[in-house]
Amino acid sequence: KKVNVAVVGATGAVGETMLAILAERRFPVGELFVLASERSAGGSIEYRGEEYIVQDLAAFDPTGVDIALFSAGGDVSREYAPKFAAAGAVVIDNSSAFRYDDDVPLVVSEVNPDQVANRPRGIIANPNCSTMQMLVALAPLHRESRIERINVATYQSVSGGGRSAMEELGRQTGALLNFQDPSPERFPVQIAFNLIPHIDDFQDNGFTKEEMKLVWETRKILGDDGIMVNPTAVRVPVFYGHSEAVAIETEARISPERARELLRAAPGVEVVDERKPGGYPTPVTHASGNDAVYVGRIREDLSHPRGLNLWIVSDNIRKGAALNAVQLAELVVAEG
Ligand code: A2P
Repeated sequence: KKVNVAVVGATGAVGETMLAILAERRFPVGELFVLASERSAGGSIEYRGEEYIVQDLAAFDPTGVDIALFSAGGDVSREYAPKFAAAGAVVIDNSSAFRYDDDVPLVVSEVNPDQVANRPRGIIANPNCSTMQMLVALAPLHRESRIERINVATYQSVSGGGRSAMEELGRQTGALLNFQDPSPERFPVQIAFNLIPHIDDFQDNGFTKEEMKLVWETRKILGDDGIMVNPTAVRVPVFYGHSEAVAIETEARISPERARELLRAAPGVEVVDERKPGGYPTPVTHASGNDAVYVGRIREDLSHPRGLNLWIVSDNIRKGAALNAVQLAELVVAEG
């Protein structure tokens, strides 16, 4: 059976990858609607060799849409996702607008797929990119022995900030190599040849919202409000692929050998863990353009008897956003 699909934010970094992944995975697309703001309405987008005209979301009638993939920011989702749901579509929303609502499931396809069915509002939330890749790797370990605490520092690529953020890294890099002024616009300070320990808004507790997403979403997805998460989220001058230095403390000790065994058997995970130059995943050598969550540098925490360190890398636009959204759509289709 064919499914009528709308991609909202189709001209964006995530939206265009959603279309590519729908095609790659031969999703049973019936009618396809590519939607964006009036700025890009009238332009065209190619999907499986055919041209589709970009339509203005504000003027679009969602009647007849079966599944809507939203990735046009929180404000757009808050305004339009309920309208699409009311018209009968299942909305899969990549923004943070609904993630923390009790009546909206937050789903990583390899971790809690059963939750997809639990959607009284017709809305399913796609997790934050950093939480997504972290939990694909940690859930198999958590099932072996409960994770009590997670310390995580992220190294997040600029594509997570959308097209304008990628353009800024390119522009500043070119400017600096030509002895010109890198003038920050999209980021608060220079991103080229730099690091920025600030993603999304500051909260009252001194953490950023990007950091708190790791706390809130880990608990909701694993269904365990007792898990302690201590995050630092950092933007780095990488185009595609987020990396994470993760230290976990489990109830019972998990040896590095056992962790490797569990992760080798885990869906969506690839272990790259040789103790030699290049024997570990990086954004450029492994993650960028690929679907897996790559895990390496697995070793015991020298400072904790039940601690394990891991290095987790994945393409934030693919598994971190577009791929998981399409996988959730596949779960919806499989319901029949
Ligand atoms: P547009 O091309 O019309 O600006 P990115 O995250 O790469 O910046 O992409 C954001 C996506 O969200 C784009 O497809 C953008 O479309 C879309 N978008 C942004 N604001 C709106 C809006 N108000 N209505 C519909 N789509 C929007």
